[in-house]
Amino acid sequence: MQTDTYSKLPEHVAVIMDGNGRWAAARSLPRHAGHRAGVKSVRRTVETAARRGVRHLTLFAFSSENFQRPPDEVNKLMGLFVEALRREVDELHRNNVRLQLIGARERLDPGLARKIAAAEERTRANTGLHLIIAVAYGGRWDIVEAARSLGRRVAEGALDPRDIDERALASQLQLAGVPDPDLLIRTGGERRVSNFLLWNIAYAEIFFCDALWPDFGEREFDEALGFYARRQRRYGHTGEQLEAVVKC
Ligand code: FPP
Repeated sequence: MQTDTYSKLPEHVAVIMDGNGRWAAARSLPRHAGHRAGVKSVRRTVETAARRGVRHLTLFAFSSENFQRPPDEVNKLMGLFVEALRREVDELHRNNVRLQLIGARERLDPGLARKIAAAEERTRANTGLHLIIAVAYGGRWDIVEAARSLGRRVAEGALDPRDIDERALASQLQLAGVPDPDLLIRTGGERRVSNFLLWNIAYAEIFFCDALWPDFGEREFDEALGFYARRQRRYGHTGEQLEAVVKC
């Protein structure tokens, strides 16, 4: 691995895992086989992120829009989540990983929602990698829910509309309390953000990667970290301004 990868490590990495279907089609396999291979890639990525010292890893596993896929694919994906939880939670816990779900839990099967809540509870106090899985999640949904929650507090008289600012809204988002992603990775060759963490990725560096998700491994993750380490994050300032600060 390049040395500059370590010189500037993203604290929070978010990933749009795309390309399972194409991976399967290229092998004349059903789409589900691609999702199964995708679970292995999730495992590898969690291990690599933890080893590299990333603090938060957010994976987009199922979007609000994915409910529109054929029911058989949706059911099988939900089955995979249940299976992955059953198989992996012990090891995640042993490795000090804290698991959290973001998304519309009320849209999930109650049995799955209960298993997720139990896994969250069990790993809550862990201090290693914070693994966040986005299921039934959409960036616009997240912002609407946050706005609704602020609206409720205004209606109750608990909040003055003049006190609504970016911080107040961010405090109601699914990722409240988690630093914004520094690096967003999208696999599968498409160059779009697909309604993922719209608010939180305002200043994320974006790494588009042609590898299909099941082929995404340690090498590709390190490439993304190397890309991030070479970026200059300006947050609206000029490069000269930032260099002046560094020199001070
Ligand atoms: C996108 O590929 C992938 C998904 C919609 C599902 C992602 C799910 C997993 C990787 C498996 C389980 C995850 C966890 C956290 C256990 P696609 O189907 O859109 O692929 P395509 O663009 O090639 O059709």
